[in-house]
Amino acid sequence: MPTLGVNIDHIATVRQARRTDEPDPVWAAVEAQLGGAACITFHLREDRRHIIDRDVPLLRGVVNVKLNMEMSIADEIVNIALANKPDQCCLVPERREEVTTEGGLDVIRHADRVGRAVKRLREAGIACSAFIEPLQDHIQKSAELGFQVVELWTGGYAHADTHAARDAALEKLRSGVAIARDCGLEVHGGHGLTYRNVGPVAAIRGFSEFNIGHSIMARAFFVGLQEAVREMNALLLRFGPKE
Ligand code: PXP
Repeated sequence: MPTLGVNIDHIATVRQARRTDEPDPVWAAVEAQLGGAACITFHLREDRRHIIDRDVPLLRGVVNVKLNMEMSIADEIVNIALANKPDQCCLVPERREEVTTEGGLDVIRHADRVGRAVKRLREAGIACSAFIEPLQDHIQKSAELGFQVVELWTGGYAHADTHAARDAALEKLRSGVAIARDCGLEVHGGHGLTYRNVGPVAAIRGFSEFNIGHSIMARAFFVGLQEAVREMNALLLRFGPKE
């Protein structure tokens, strides 16, 4: 059964909209754990638009499940990861003008810099995940660079606007999972997954974790975060492979 990683960045986005101290993403991490999250995910962006430096050691202190830090390969951010030791770092592409992470990291184009970041993180005992598109050469390169995990970008599926495009995206994910498993990688998925679209992706055998943020936080406004996490976990249980 795949487990659920809850991305808490959007709580911090609301806080930063007023540059105040509420709502606190550290409280969100506690609530999400009480609701059954198996992993808490946050992204310390270079522009600090949501999670800020103060949050990182506090999250490290209160998160008892897996703590996953999404990050770019900038030296400054790698140094913060090394100082705070999340259980896992998920390396993502980052562009200042984007609304959210749009697509996967090009591990082939940036192989040298990515490889250096992975080496430093792994030497510190931090597991490394590559957020990539479900492409054979990117998956194989990730394994070569020392990643233990790939998180396959599910945005191609989530944003598909025809049935044919959706089916093609699902097929790409299925074959991506198979290739990654053959390379000995653990496989996660994330981006754009919602209560309405998660079923067919959750049903793909071989995913061990999904990282979901925006949709859970949107629901939490109305039902509370613990309940929103419980409802998403129930969907993973309902649609996930049965053994
Ligand atoms: N996984 C990664 C690597 C991401 O960058 C994001 C977006 O922050 C997510 C998962 C969660 O995406 P969403 O907020 O669309 O659920």
